[in-house]
Amino acid sequence: MTAKPWYASVTDLDLRAFEAIVGPAYVRTDPLSLDKYGRDETEDLVFPPEVVVFPGSAEEVQAVVRYCYRRRIPVTPRAGGTGLSGGALPVLGGVVLSVERMNRILEIDDVNMMAVVEPGVVTADLQQAVEERGLFYPPDPASRFVCCIGGNVAENAGGPRALKYGVTRDYVYGLDVVLPNGRRLRTGGKLYKDVAGYDLTRLFVGSEGTLGVFTRIILRLIPKPAVQWTLLVPFDAWDGAFRALRGIFEARLLPAAVEFMDREAVVITAARTQRPFPHTDAAALLLIQLDGDDPAVVEGQALRVGEVCERAGARDVQVADTPARQEELWAFRRAVGEAVKKTSVYKEEDTVVPRDRLPDLLTTVRGLAQRYGFRAVCYGHAGDGNIHVNILKMGLTERTWREILPHATKELFEAVVALGGTITGEHGVGWVQRPYLPIALPSESLRLQRRLKRLFDPRGIMNPGKVFP
Ligand code: LAC
Ligand code: ZN
Repeated sequence: MTAKPWYASVTDLDLRAFEAIVGPAYVRTDPLSLDKYGRDETEDLVFPPEVVVFPGSAEEVQAVVRYCYRRRIPVTPRAGGTGLSGGALPVLGGVVLSVERMNRILEIDDVNMMAVVEPGVVTADLQQAVEERGLFYPPDPASRFVCCIGGNVAENAGGPRALKYGVTRDYVYGLDVVLPNGRRLRTGGKLYKDVAGYDLTRLFVGSEGTLGVFTRIILRLIPKPAVQWTLLVPFDAWDGAFRALRGIFEARLLPAAVEFMDREAVVITAARTQRPFPHTDAAALLLIQLDGDDPAVVEGQALRVGEVCERAGARDVQVADTPARQEELWAFRRAVGEAVKKTSVYKEEDTVVPRDRLPDLLTTVRGLAQRYGFRAVCYGHAGDGNIHVNILKMGLTERTWREILPHATKELFEAVVALGGTITGEHGVGWVQRPYLPIALPSESLRLQRRLKRLFDPRGIMNPGKVFP
């Protein structure tokens, strides 16, 4: 896509200006960098920027954004670049503003139980640092060893533990933001309670880089649970897995996570990772994590969950209580996305429904797969109703893939919304789901949101081309 006339292209003069702000070493225009920063983890999309700029401080971010605002140059903020909806792709060219140098944990505050971080901190690094002090930052996107807090906040990232602990949004208590016009704004603070005015912090969380660049983030922490157990439960039929899911909540249990993998997900991941995995012939697997402070209580919960699963028709209930065995199971689960990607051109739909409607969602997928002739891989966060439906291209013709399959996506999303769900639970709308947003949102909501965007960014320079159809 070429830049729209109201955006300026980056000139040599602009490059010199960026160099003056951040230093020549931190302005890149070489082909390798432009290619790397023209991609994220979304399918096979590439939109090279004109330049990649790596500011090292809030002041430098501010100076770059202010410059781009004056010149009307598109700015696409980027942290870890692991997004799955194209949120960090510079679809109109311009500047990719990478915050990866801003990777300091500024403070871990034991008394207020808050961490203050820069946006380029890798999520797992923060988790490790706080866990060493007996604290816990629960949000656990599958990419947590490479993704960054800034991107997690921008996309309101989730993960398996959302079931018990909530998503990124639930931990963001304050932000420093460079607004599109180059001004700086501070929201929130180390405050559990704060009702002074509108909650701008929450507006920025999940705004997908369209309202500003985060330069400092305050995150709530909680005490680290002392004990974690993981159960691996195979079922001979999907129905059994979903009966077990119901049963767990009817028994008033709240696991940290209940993950679902269909047979296709397990087979593909086992083949790609070459990790032997038990029960590759099961129709569905649940991976259930229980946690708490008292080992006897967690053990009791595990027994009750096991009983529920057996009553629902589980073939077996395997218990992993050592950290090493648990990590093996979770590493397998985290590898599914990457394994699918290596198997075929694909499209990932991040569907979410109230969890009691999951059987209807999966029946819908099965029906669509048959009717449109695609191979489907379904896996994800059954506990919170968020299932990643992967549509694999495999042997489909280019024409079918480009012209026919979007109808399947549309039908899927319409069904999801009819079930009380929506079109993305944790990956964001970004670039790839924009055409489908009107299926999820009433026009009044879209109108208000567009007006908010214009209010924050009258020149439309901040991550242009995203979210709105
Ligand atoms: C996962 C990513 C794709 O759940 O969200 O593995
Ligand atoms: Zn996920």
